[in-house]
Amino acid sequence: MSKSIGVLTAGGDTPGINAAIRGIGKAAMGEYGYQVIGFMDGFRGLVQDRFVRLERDALTNIISEGGTILGTSRDRPHKMVVGGKTLDMTDVAVENYEKHHLEALICLGGGGTQKHAFRLAEKGLNIITLPKTIDNDVEETDVAFGFDTACGIATEAMDRLHTTAHSHHRVIVVETMGHRVGWLALCAGVSSGADVILIPEIPYGVETIAESVLQRSRSGKNFSIIAIAEGALSREQATILEKLGKPKNSNNGNAAGEKLKEATEEMKDRSMQLAGRLEELTGLESRVTILGHVQRGGTPSSKDRLLSTVLGTTAVQLVEQGRFGVMVAYKSEKAVPVPLEEVTGRRKYVPVDHPFVESARQLGTCFGDI
Ligand code: F6P
Repeated sequence: MSKSIGVLTAGGDTPGINAAIRGIGKAAMGEYGYQVIGFMDGFRGLVQDRFVRLERDALTNIISEGGTILGTSRDRPHKMVVGGKTLDMTDVAVENYEKHHLEALICLGGGGTQKHAFRLAEKGLNIITLPKTIDNDVEETDVAFGFDTACGIATEAMDRLHTTAHSHHRVIVVETMGHRVGWLALCAGVSSGADVILIPEIPYGVETIAESVLQRSRSGKNFSIIAIAEGALSREQATILEKLGKPKNSNNGNAAGEKLKEATEEMKDRSMQLAGRLEELTGLESRVTILGHVQRGGTPSSKDRLLSTVLGTTAVQLVEQGRFGVMVAYKSEKAVPVPLEEVTGRRKYVPVDHPFVESARQLGTCFGDI
């Protein structure tokens, strides 16, 4: 009987996942003679033992396909909703892994997936992970696959919005994804020459942004593009959230949790609120474009395909070497294993003195802080 490797994809989908599955599958089957089992819909498929045997045919022509042929979900083995109840299904996940006599389980995902996979590694499973997220917030890797494509999509959208903002003399607030970090807004903003870039790492002042828009008007440029990350906060909002803290760290648990929820809810439409305020303060008509899931869909860039392929094939080499409990990171042009303990529970924020930030500042880009 040939040995088997399991694969699953969890969390939000990203362009490049299929290229990674192809890299894993082809290397595993061709180079090392493994069978490959793909669990459907993330950790839920592992718990429910829903899987497909990945034959070579299934891997043909998928390098350029967006999404994931295995499906995905945000389900967590230790807190899974089953029949309306939230249950710890970790033992079932372990049983199914053992039932298939897996040599290893390769989990493709972002920060959450790294954590859930690490929990399974602590239960004795041979786990290897790959960093996959358009947010680019996974620690210990220079980049995660999906980010380059999403950044390209956001950049193109901002380029297009530039011409219409110019023609109509408008302020256009363009909201990118990114969860709690600003990589997408920063990189797409710098690449497209956005006039203002707002990221969670640098809380902004609305008056500061308005002044920079007005300054552009005074110099004859009656339009502005404002790239804002979905997690960006004004100074006031950042202070409120800091005071409320994380519910877990609070002494009065649920009450604090509720307040935090309320405050976050009020901040939900922050891009709309910002556009409204800027219209009042500058007298320029304002519009909002929320890029949303468009950034996650469709064909992966060449760079993402390359990254996914190299990370996928390296994961199989690591299985062959018996190196488990690691994420395959990409550091200084090399795919390298990093212990999962060094990755989990951490988030890769944009350093406020990152070269892209400093360079944009030199060009006069406003970050809303000064
Ligand atoms: O983590 C990827 C991401 O696209 C974030 O940028 C975004 O906040 C979130 O997922 C959206 O999640 P969902 O697709 O579940 O709405």
